[in-house]
Amino acid sequence: MIPPMTILITAGPTCEAIDPVRFLTNKSSGKMGYAIAKSAADQGHRVILISGPTNLNVPDLVDYIPVESTQEMYDAVEHWIKKADIAIFAAAVADYQPANISEQKIKKDAETITLKLVKTPDILGSAKQKFGYQGVLIGFAAETENLEMNAREKLKRKGCDLIVANDVSRKDIGFNTNQNEILLISADYIERPPKASKQHLSHIILEHAVDLAAPRDMD
Ligand code: PMT
Repeated sequence: MIPPMTILITAGPTCEAIDPVRFLTNKSSGKMGYAIAKSAADQGHRVILISGPTNLNVPDLVDYIPVESTQEMYDAVEHWIKKADIAIFAAAVADYQPANISEQKIKKDAETITLKLVKTPDILGSAKQKFGYQGVLIGFAAETENLEMNAREKLKRKGCDLIVANDVSRKDIGFNTNQNEILLISADYIERPPKASKQHLSHIILEHAVDLAAPRDMD
């Protein structure tokens, strides 16, 4: 019997405003993160789901924190992560945001305009280094090339215990699909489950998460 834990999950895209009606975002549907949230809640864990905008129904018995921008997701994670035993970052976070948000709708008089972008805060990379989080930290890696090598680099650079890597150049898996094919990479092992539904894979991800958390509980 697995003792109930508190699991924080990020999901969906973030949106970076350009002006009052336009924004930068990406193709994340939220399906991967919501599948993990549903499985975790079904198993009796307390789930804190911090999500960018999606069209999905929030799974039952989940504490839902809606956000839009990367900064809002950062602030929500900083606030809630202290309560978590496990944190899983499935959100597709914008890497850049406009340097300035225009207060008025930008007029379309000019033939070309240049948008200056600045880096967004790295939420996953801040978990251990800035927020002082000591639980199990699981990141995703969305790659279009050198999947394993790039995922291993993220595992180290972001201080994760496990990285879930997926190839987002494929149309049949990754963004806005019901299925996924993932690599699970820790410092000690790599596992390659076969392609399956995101709901099925969410159980495998949670099994790894709970295994990683278990030895800490016996300290
Ligand atoms: O939502 P779906 O349509 O179901 O699609 C699922 C998915 C493809 C979005 C998901 O499986 C996935 O790969 N999520 C991670 C997407 C991503 O932003 O990957 P990344 O390699 O750019 O980022 C690495 C990790 O850092 C991720 O855990 C990301 O959440 C996190 N990150 C990234 C940038 C940032 N500023 N802060 C972060 O926390």
